Amino acid sequence: MPEPMSPVSFPSTFLWGAATSAYQIEGAVREDGRTPSIWDTFAHTPGKTAGGDHGDVAVDHYHRYRDDVALMSGLGLGAYRFSISWSRVQPTGRGPAVQRGLDFYRRLVDELLAKDIKPAVTLYHWDLPQELEDAGGWPERDTAYRFAEYAQIVGEALGDRVEQWITLNEPWCSAFLGYGSGVHAPGRTEPVATLRASHHLNLAHGLGAKALRSVMPARNTVALSLNSSTVRPLTQDAADLAAARKIDDLANGIFHGPILHGAYPESLFTATRQLTDWSYVQDGDLATINQPLDALGLNYYTPALVSAAGPDHSGPRADGHGASEHSPWPAADDVLFHQPPGDRTAMGWSIDPTGLYDLIMRYEREVPGLPLYITENGAAYDDKPDPDGRVHDPERIAYLHGHLAEVRRAIADGADVRGYFLWSLLDNFEWAYGYEKRFGAVYVDYTTLERTSKSSAHWYGKAARTGTLPE
Ligand code: NOJ
Repeated sequence: MPEPMSPVSFPSTFLWGAATSAYQIEGAVREDGRTPSIWDTFAHTPGKTAGGDHGDVAVDHYHRYRDDVALMSGLGLGAYRFSISWSRVQPTGRGPAVQRGLDFYRRLVDELLAKDIKPAVTLYHWDLPQELEDAGGWPERDTAYRFAEYAQIVGEALGDRVEQWITLNEPWCSAFLGYGSGVHAPGRTEPVATLRASHHLNLAHGLGAKALRSVMPARNTVALSLNSSTVRPLTQDAADLAAARKIDDLANGIFHGPILHGAYPESLFTATRQLTDWSYVQDGDLATINQPLDALGLNYYTPALVSAAGPDHSGPRADGHGASEHSPWPAADDVLFHQPPGDRTAMGWSIDPTGLYDLIMRYEREVPGLPLYITENGAAYDDKPDPDGRVHDPERIAYLHGHLAEVRRAIADGADVRGYFLWSLLDNFEWAYGYEKRFGAVYVDYTTLERTSKSSAHWYGKAARTGTLPE
């Protein structure tokens, strides 16, 4: 019997967490044997990130992890999602592990467990070892096998104490922003490489999931985090509906098709026919990719609003994924992106909590019975400390409240959502936007690296402790 729900409370087992990723917070990029990842190289290439910002020090979490865990514990959070830096563990992206690198994560996990915070590990949050990019990167098949080897190493090292595992974070960004628009590392702008990278990321997920299971206790769970977009057509005209379907294939179907259903959408093959014959999809790949999953992670920030382009294909191109002369979307010159109406965050992303509800319900229908986690949701605002040193961020509270209320509505409507991870615990390196965009519930002074919980952190902590959304 499902637990009866009060009108405002979440289920008592609901996991209240926060999320981060290695390159965005750790710093210590040259310590204990770590070598450069594609993000070190990219961020140190002039013109690639706002203000030339990079993750050399970031928020120095590598040295301050105990304080950061204490912060979470003080707030009353029940879970923490973080990622492992691949090149800390395998500096060349292959071969034996560096124990000092793994030891950092062992210490972090032990600290979390000692404070009763459940660790959730993401194996790949975009920081490919540079040596693997030099060998061709994600467009090359071998990278998927390298990932499986790395997954096995980390699974062996931490599988005894970490139950929740996520293979990849937002493979769309790795493929489409890394190899399509080039606004993310490694900064390549090659439409075919984007599609090849997508397939090899899918393959990496499948091989990685198998590798994890081969070395971990059966109780551990394996999932991945997709930034599945809620794609909305501008009108109900047939051409706009077709545009929305095309972007849905390129944003969502290209990953969840093979991962959840064992097949790429036929319409994706048709749409990209002029570019590629997909011959890099080898016999047996789809079965490998379609591994049984224990859960699905959804990252949600904003919906996409699209229409068909006019005959001259001119019109708005802004899709919220950063400025580039190159579109991230292969074979989609006939689609226009529009700014949805309403309020926006400091990223310029429109605020629409119903998009999260729609996303949850979509997966509830598509993969009934598969537990869902919101593995990221949150907002950037221009937070500044008051003269008294406190940081008030009522907009972020409103954003979190709105989205969590939609999560709760989805649960009440039958969706099996097991937890929510706020992005992000701390202000951090927001990729191409550098440190200018603050997503943290905890403010970081980038001169002193001092942490100050914003009012949203206190609000969220209360929600976590009471299982109810405070007013
Ligand atoms: C998704 C990514 O996983 C994370 O690294 C990023 O900081 C947030 N979105 C905000 O853009």
